[in-house]
Amino acid sequence: MMDIEFVRSRFIKHFDGKTGNVYASPGRINLIGEHTDYNGGFVFPGAVDKGIMAEMRANGTEDTVMAYAIDLKDRVDFHLNDPAGPRASWARYIYGIAKEMQKLGVPVKGFNIAFAGDVPLGAGMSSSAAMESCFACGLNDIFGENKVSQWDMVLAGQATEHNYCGVNCGIMDQFASVFGKAGCLMRLDCRSREFEYFPFKPDGYRLVLLDSVVKHELAGSPYNDRRNSCENVVKHIAAKHPEGKFETLRDCTWEQLDEVRAEVGEEDYKRAHFVLGEKDRVLAVCDALIAGDYETVGQKMYETHYGLSKEYEVSCEELDFLNDIAKENGVTGSRIMGGGFGGCTINLVRADLYDKFIADAKQKFAAKFGHEPEVIDVVIGDGSRKLA
Ligand code: GLA
Repeated sequence: MMDIEFVRSRFIKHFDGKTGNVYASPGRINLIGEHTDYNGGFVFPGAVDKGIMAEMRANGTEDTVMAYAIDLKDRVDFHLNDPAGPRASWARYIYGIAKEMQKLGVPVKGFNIAFAGDVPLGAGMSSSAAMESCFACGLNDIFGENKVSQWDMVLAGQATEHNYCGVNCGIMDQFASVFGKAGCLMRLDCRSREFEYFPFKPDGYRLVLLDSVVKHELAGSPYNDRRNSCENVVKHIAAKHPEGKFETLRDCTWEQLDEVRAEVGEEDYKRAHFVLGEKDRVLAVCDALIAGDYETVGQKMYETHYGLSKEYEVSCEELDFLNDIAKENGVTGSRIMGGGFGGCTINLVRADLYDKFIADAKQKFAAKFGHEPEVIDVVIGDGSRKLA
């Protein structure tokens, strides 16, 4: 994490010289369970030691927000009561979360905010969820006497994406950012919202991300189309079985999926086929982790990559290439992480193979695409918190 003094010096310089409170929220990784959250399935994320840090202070106005994005050197002022909100996409996260916190009963008034991040943008590590949960944590503290629960902050972050940023995401990213705990992954059941912490210390293995640096922008991407495909399949299955309750693909079986194959068409069928498989894979990985069987964990990761690439079709040439290099190097598990359409792969690699794998990936990727992938060693960190 970047240090408080860095953010504080900018906050002082760009506003009236006073200091405020400082909050931090992390980005996340996800071991397995992709595109399952909005399908009522399971996910297996953990927070990382990188994220967003913000200094915030009430400025005494009714509804004027003065916001400074330190990394972008961009200043935007806007009014909370302006129904349109700001245009700058980063400022919409601030506006959106403030509106959502108001809906939860927090009397948000005007405030100053400066923030910076060290979670790479567009890498599929949820920089946007880190922003939402960081700002939610700050507004809850400054205006809400910390009365809003952690889960409500998760949902406010998700609603910000839906209502102000155009991404119909699930709850995994905001959940991981708020609830993260150092050294632990979390298995979340996205239907019941029950979750468990899993200490993750794979002896003899390392987790590393390779960022293709292909920009992953979920807004305006086919992310929402994937979700629509899944919902369409559920609708068809529900129509065939009026006796049952079908809310998401979580409630559907392989047989029921096969029954509607012809009517939903091959594309939607493939999407749902991936989701049902992924639900099973998360559970298999859970058992394997408990047994300390990392080879099975890795094998499931490769299966997920195959499904994300061929059935869900959210991969790209660069990510498939990184996955192939991992396989060639005997890496235990490798797959696309996050929403897809760019971003990074997550790799579970034996410690003794690490150096060779990284060197080979850099060299071959650069030879083909003209630049090296970014290497991000995963350290599993804490969730949203107040720092000062
Ligand atoms: C993005 C979304 C999440 C989740 C993942 C895919 O990160 O924000 O809700 O759907 O994609 O697993």
